Parts: sequence; structure tokens; C-alpha cells
Amino acid sequence: MADVQQALDFVRANGERYLSELKDFVSIPSISTLDENKPDVQRAAEWVAEQLRSLGMDKVQIMPTALHPVVYGEWMGAGKSAPTVMIYGHYDVQPVDPLELWTADPFKPEAHDDYLFGRGVSDMKGQVVASLKAVEAIVRTTGLPVNIKWLVEGEEEIGSEHLEDFIKKNKDMLKCDFCLNPDAGMIAPDKPTITTGLRGLAYFELRVYGPDKDLHSGLFGGALHNPAQALIELVAGMHDRDGKIKLPGFYDNVRKLSKQERKDFKRLPTSDKELKKLMGVPALWGEKKFIPAERIGARPTLEVNGLLSGFTGQGSKTVIPAWAMAKISCRLVPDQTPEETEKQLRKYLKKNAPKTIRWELKNLHNAGAALVETDSPGIQALAKALETVWGKHPYFKREGGSIGSVILLKKYVGAESILSGFGLPDDNVHSPNERLHLPTWYKGIEAFTHFFYNL
Ligand code: BES
Ligand code: MN
Repeated sequence: MADVQQALDFVRANGERYLSELKDFVSIPSISTLDENKPDVQRAAEWVAEQLRSLGMDKVQIMPTALHPVVYGEWMGAGKSAPTVMIYGHYDVQPVDPLELWTADPFKPEAHDDYLFGRGVSDMKGQVVASLKAVEAIVRTTGLPVNIKWLVEGEEEIGSEHLEDFIKKNKDMLKCDFCLNPDAGMIAPDKPTITTGLRGLAYFELRVYGPDKDLHSGLFGGALHNPAQALIELVAGMHDRDGKIKLPGFYDNVRKLSKQERKDFKRLPTSDKELKKLMGVPALWGEKKFIPAERIGARPTLEVNGLLSGFTGQGSKTVIPAWAMAKISCRLVPDQTPEETEKQLRKYLKKNAPKTIRWELKNLHNAGAALVETDSPGIQALAKALETVWGKHPYFKREGGSIGSVILLKKYVGAESILSGFGLPDDNVHSPNERLHLPTWYKGIEAFTHFFYNL
């Protein structure tokens, strides 16, 4: 029997156990941004390390960083003539609030029909388990035809802040031919996809301070600038009516799209109507000169992630708040950098903030934008694997999300990332009721199994 067939049979025979292990992993609330979940984040790292050990990986270690640890493991038994593939993943997840919108406990994963529900099932514990289980099927049947190194971090959802230092310090250990990164997704269940680019991110907290305490709005209103109002005036001025961003110099380094790239964007199968439905909005919005796929994949944005000020409890209270806060982030494209973006935002605030308030800006985290190779032996092996499983050529698409490791691995290890993954646009990632489409997930495990033999 052909090698790959033995491994595929193993996947099919063990599918239910694979799912139950995924549920165990998802049950650990490894929310990287919250202090109270730090022990859970550690437990998730231990879960991954235990999996690597049971796969017979060598040098399995939970390596500390300044915040959450990196899990490492390798198997170099295929010898010098075989390629060395790094497999990247993250075991951390986003917060779950607003909790009341979940129909079940986000950390008690339940399967209903074709979906498994829970925080992180799609982004990206399901994808980590898909890679682990493809490798398990190979290890337990024919043995691995390639060398592999695992790099599974716990800070992806907060900008991979300490991964840079980690990669810098462990360059030799991390040496590889390329990195399989299953943290990107697919366009639709019947549309296998290879992601060719990601946006970067610069994330800020802006605070505006007014009076030294909340004030009676009747006693004082009319004599001072309300900080909530000042904040929203500042925020409102960050875009013009056409959706362009008004930070000084913001577009200076934005790489222009070639005619060919614009053609490729036009050919993608998602329609405006579908997108509208997917997002649940009455109308689309954004830069007029670009179609939505370009605006998501290849144009920068500035977003308000959250606003906070004053009295928001039940009923009414006549008050002028002492302060107001906005969480603001920019998605960036080549050749913008988070550092320049921060300077531009500060410049905007210096120029536009009124004398009536005081402001403070904090940079919370950053990630660089990336374009990756679209024609390499690794990409070909993945394209062929997807084609075998789905029976059609994969789509190539630039995505709007960010993954910090991609440029870090390129910069310090010289490794290109191959962006894959089996999450879908309607998986509710970062939203309530995150879910994973199980038939697509199983196909994904098979595709990764093919991938390793194709190499
Ligand atoms: N898996 C996503 C990134 C992604 C989203 C890739 C959509 C392709 C398509 C990843 O886990 C993520 O959400 N990253 C954060 C990173 C940020 C905090 C630096 C993001 O994009 O918000
Ligand atoms: Mn995410």
C-alpha cells in the first residue's frame, strides 16, 4: 500500500479521537491578554508539549519568554538530504466577551451538526490539532519523510510581542527550509485557499482627560469641553468622507497594486452581496477606488475597537465624565511600519487635539505586514495536496488579518511562511459562538497528510 494511503487510513480510523482531543485543548481558557488566565495559558502550553512528546518529538521544551512561553519540539530523523519544515501555531485565544451572546460555554466545546463551538476552535486550536494529527498519522504508520520543527507560541493574539526576542536568541535551533503556518483560512468550504499576504497591525490606546473628577453637567456644563466629545471629535477626524485616513503621511509608503494584482483581486469569488450578509450590515463602506477584497487584503485601515467614557449603567445620570478612552488600531500593508504609524498618529493628535483637554497615547502591540512567495516547492506541495483532497486548484488570496511570526521568521531565520488553514469566513473568529466546520477540518487533516509526502 502506498505510504500516504496508510496514513490516510489512520486519520479516518482515528477521527473521533482526534475530535475529542481537540475538545480537551479548547477546554483550556488560554486567553493571552488577561492576567487572570495566565495559569491557563501555561496549561495550554503543557498540553501542546505533551502532544509533541507523545509523537516522539525530540527536545520538547516549554521555553519561557518575558510573558507567555513558546513550545518547541523537533524530529530530525529524516536526515540531511530531506527538507526541514517548521510548523508554526499559537495556543492562545482571544477574550470571550460579550459572554451573554454565546449560546454555550465557550470553554465547554460542543459539536452540533457539522460544527464544533468554542473559543479558539477555528483560530487556531483546530488548526494546531490538524497539523498535530496529520503528523501523528504519519508517525504511527510509515514514519515521517521530512524533518520537522514545531514553534507554538502563546502571544499571537496580542501581537507576538516576545516572539521577536525568542526567535533572535534561537536562530540556529529554528533553522529550516520553510514554515507551514496554518493560521490563515479558506474562502469557502468548497474553495481551497492559499494565503499570499497578510496585513500588519499597530494597536493603540488613546485617553483623553478633562476635569479632575466627574462633574454635575448642570452646574458646569457649558463651561468646559466634555472629554468624551473631544475624543470622538478627534476620532471622527481620522477619516474623510471617502473613507481615507487623515493621519499625516499615512499613505506615503503604501505599495501600489499592479494591474495584474488588481485583476487577481477581481477574480476572487466573494461577491459584495455575500460579504454584506456575512458581516450582517445594511451596506458596505470603505475607500471608493478599491473593491472590498482589495480594501481587506491590500489597503490599510484605521479602526475603533472600543470606546469607553462616563456613565453607561442603567437609567440616567447627569454627568460630565473626567476622561474618555478609545482602543484604536491600524491594519497596515507593505511598506508601512507600525513605528511610522505611531509617529503619524502622534502628529495628528498634536495638531488636532484642543487645548481644553490632555491626551495620552499608548502603543499596545504591533505586527508587520507580509507578502509571501507564491511559487516554491513548499507551495507546490501544498497546492497539490489541496487539489488532491478538494478536486480543484486552490485560490490564491491576500488576507486582511495579521500574524506576527511571518516577518519575524523571514527576518531572523530566512524562512518563508506558507499560509494555510481550514477556518472559514463565517467561523465567528474573535466573535461570540466561534465555530469550526468539521467536514472541512477533516479534509484539512488529510490535506496536511498529503502535503508531507508531497514534499
Ligand atoms: N488567524 C488570525 C489571522 C488571520 C485572520 C489570518 C484572517 C488570515 C485571515 C490570527 O490569529 C489573528 O487574529 N491575529 C491577530 C493578530 C494581532 C493581534 C497582531 C489579528 O489579526 O487581529
Ligand atoms: Mn486570531
